[in-house]
Amino acid sequence: MSYAMIEVRTEAEKVGIITLNRPKQLNALNDQLMNELGAALQAFDADERIGCIIVTGSEKAFAAGADISAMAKYSFADVYKGDFISRNWETIRSIRKPVIAAVSGFALGGGCELAMMCDFIIAADNAKFGQPEIKLGVIPGAGGTQRLPRAVGKAKAMDMALTGRMMDAEEAERAGLVSRVVPLGKLQDEALGAALTISDFSRVAVMAAKESVNRAFESGLSDGVMFERRLFHALFATEDQKEGMDAFLNKRKAVFTHR
Ligand code: HXC
Repeated sequence: MSYAMIEVRTEAEKVGIITLNRPKQLNALNDQLMNELGAALQAFDADERIGCIIVTGSEKAFAAGADISAMAKYSFADVYKGDFISRNWETIRSIRKPVIAAVSGFALGGGCELAMMCDFIIAADNAKFGQPEIKLGVIPGAGGTQRLPRAVGKAKAMDMALTGRMMDAEEAERAGLVSRVVPLGKLQDEALGAALTISDFSRVAVMAAKESVNRAFESGLSDGVMFERRLFHALFATEDQKEGMDAFLNKRKAVFTHR
């Protein structure tokens, strides 16, 4: 499949890399881009060779938000009947392999929300995060008011959503929005290194870890712990558990078969 607003490539035949590519509009997220992103994510999720996916943008912008020129014309009936944004923004939630956001430059509005829908965010030192929708007379619509407080707590989430101010990379790391901050020139290598590490682990264990961490945001502690326990027990039925533990005991590197 060919894409017009994203670039798609694989690295070492095990990492899928999706680069948002609307540089003149700072990667503003319109319907076509979101459709293409969803299709590329699903293709990598279905590709047996791929163990981890990276979503990234340009040095200046991961994404400056949903496309304001497209949204400006919408009526209530357009967005309600047209199911904006569920129609093409929620695909990422169904992806079962890990998705890393490698963020440099602006991650604003829907761009910040897209980054937060990924499993974790690695940021360049020039990254800026924000939910400036309030300045446009609306509020975040792709989970920003829900995921931001879970990531950074109520105080900072309220501050960001109500004032529309940006948070730089250092503050974002301090607040727990991003897992690592690296110099801009090292961002792609850092994200790729993490993705390659993940890709070499047991695919089943990786998917179970992702599913279990996500469960923490959907359940109470006892239910979440029980969910984890069931998955933990189930992994003893995999070849990869035998391989991983045997490799440790024999002081060699594990070679997982992903079964
Ligand atoms: C459409 C956008 C855009 C956007 C930037 N551009 N952001 N177009 N939608 N979200 C366009 C500009 O219009 C401009 O086009 C070009 O990209 C370069 O932007 P500049 O503003 O000239 O760049 P700069 O001065 O460097 O300022 C960068 C910026 C600013 C601070 C990121 O562009 C900005 O504030 N953008 C809007 C951010 C925002 O409000 N995002 C939230 C959107 S609402 P021209 O043609 O003039 O060169 C949202 C709701 C999500 O995301 C809800 C669920 C989907």
